[in-house]
Amino acid sequence: MIGVFDSGSGGMSVYRELVKLLPEARYVYYADNAHCPYGEKTAAYIRRRARAITCTLLEKGCGIIVVACNTATAAAIRYLRGTFPDVPFIGMEPAVKPAALGTKTGVIGVLATAGTLKGSKYLTTKGKYEDDVRIEEHVGEGFVELVEAGDFDSPHAEAVVRRSVEPLLDAGADTIVLGCTHYPFLAGMVRKVAGPDVQVIDPAPAVARQTLAVMQEHGIPTVDPEPGIDLLSSGDPASLERVYALVRKQQHPQ
Ligand code: DGL
Repeated sequence: MIGVFDSGSGGMSVYRELVKLLPEARYVYYADNAHCPYGEKTAAYIRRRARAITCTLLEKGCGIIVVACNTATAAAIRYLRGTFPDVPFIGMEPAVKPAALGTKTGVIGVLATAGTLKGSKYLTTKGKYEDDVRIEEHVGEGFVELVEAGDFDSPHAEAVVRRSVEPLLDAGADTIVLGCTHYPFLAGMVRKVAGPDVQVIDPAPAVARQTLAVMQEHGIPTVDPEPGIDLLSSGDPASLERVYALVRKQQHPQ
């Protein structure tokens, strides 16, 4: 069983990729939406939440945990690996490398939460590429709230997305990294604002491939007699159910 957690519904963008590679697995998805957003919380707070959620997922029988949240990865993955040494944890990778390799203008934009942009993992990755490309950052202000509210394409959503994407375009970015798992649900809007010449990168497919590799390495079964998903929320379940329904619709279009 695969545990997946996020501050809210954003980690569903990772589940969406996991289920493509591991369709016969069973998942438990935990949305910590009573404590969302994580973006502005302290690392200590996020570590406490990550520990409590991990305990819940382990009690449910999960053998591997995907921290489907860039902010929680930045704040807590080292702590989780130290606290639960027998459990494999998969974290989010800021997709700076493919962006740096693909840019033609030499400018890449990174959209993420404040917590992710301050994290040592991101800063180390950024340090490796910053001699070769210019990296422009912007917090996706209000993006998490849009996704939690199920607002992906209203005029209001467009205005919110425009506010964070335009400064990246003004700086010359031709590639935008979605460094928060909520943001891929707004990828359509980011593309609309950025135009067809800008590449938008979602790291979730790479994280799904890494999960499969680690499961195989640890001999964790990838097939469950009862494939499916259990949805858990610490707050109102409506938001996660809405995003899950959207993901299902994308998987099985009528
Ligand atoms: N989805 C999360 C991330 O990837 C957290 C967003 C938030 O709660 O601020 O960073």
